[in-house]
Amino acid sequence: MDFLSKINTQNIPKHVAVIMDGNGRWAKKQGKSRIFGHKNGVKAVKETIVAAGNAGVKALTLYAFSTENWKRPETEIKTLMTLLVTSLKNEAKDLIKNNIKLQVIGNQNHLPEIVRKGLNKVIEQTKNNTVLTLTIALSYGSREEIVNAFKNIAKKVVNNDLSVEEINENIINNHLYTFTLPDVDLMIRTSGEKRISNFLLWQIAYAELHFTDVLWPDFTKNDFYNAIIEYQTIERRFGKTSDQIKLPNEI
Ligand code: FPP
Repeated sequence: MDFLSKINTQNIPKHVAVIMDGNGRWAKKQGKSRIFGHKNGVKAVKETIVAAGNAGVKALTLYAFSTENWKRPETEIKTLMTLLVTSLKNEAKDLIKNNIKLQVIGNQNHLPEIVRKGLNKVIEQTKNNTVLTLTIALSYGSREEIVNAFKNIAKKVVNNDLSVEEINENIINNHLYTFTLPDVDLMIRTSGEKRISNFLLWQIAYAELHFTDVLWPDFTKNDFYNAIIEYQTIERRFGKTSDQIKLPNEI
């Protein structure tokens, strides 16, 4: 059964972020290498992009590789990088056909040249697309992103392009890698872990969190739809009372 029809089209999260976790455990359960898990994780990435498009989500951000992941064994890092480039090459046509814009956030300096080139090509090819913005967080760390924002803001203050009094939440937002994206409405993490792992710390201030035991390679469109269905049962109050949300004109 396809759960897409159960989604209320009037209340779709604009921005969904996903921590794709559990590739290694999925592989281990079958006596296979971690790399086998990552390879199978690519299928779930596709499922998720298609599901987000079908549901009408405008922004999907996937945590593919964290700043901390550079500490993994070199062969695993190499495989992840290769998988990324080959998947993007294979998927470029579909991204273009489905009007999906690709962007990447993170510290690109550490990425191998071939990965940067491959990414930049698809980013350029899809830059005017409008249906869904797919953001891959690659060599990404939220604290690093925030430090970077502070440095750039400080430089502007030093150069008298900005005063200290002018610094507000908007200014900080505009200096994050995600400055073109709305706040995250829904964050999903697979594999039963209940952690944020340095992902979009500023942007999830009011996000709903959805944790599922499903290991990433098993994640399907229906798992994504289920997360949205659960999100739609939650009253998002942003600090207000329930009555203020339900009867905005009477209170
Ligand atoms: C977490 O599993 C997964 C990752 C660190 C990488 C996710 C990457 C892909 C699915 C590859 C391709 C990506 C794109 C965007 C095409 P884990 O290794 O932490 O698993 P474990 O916690 O069970 O060890």
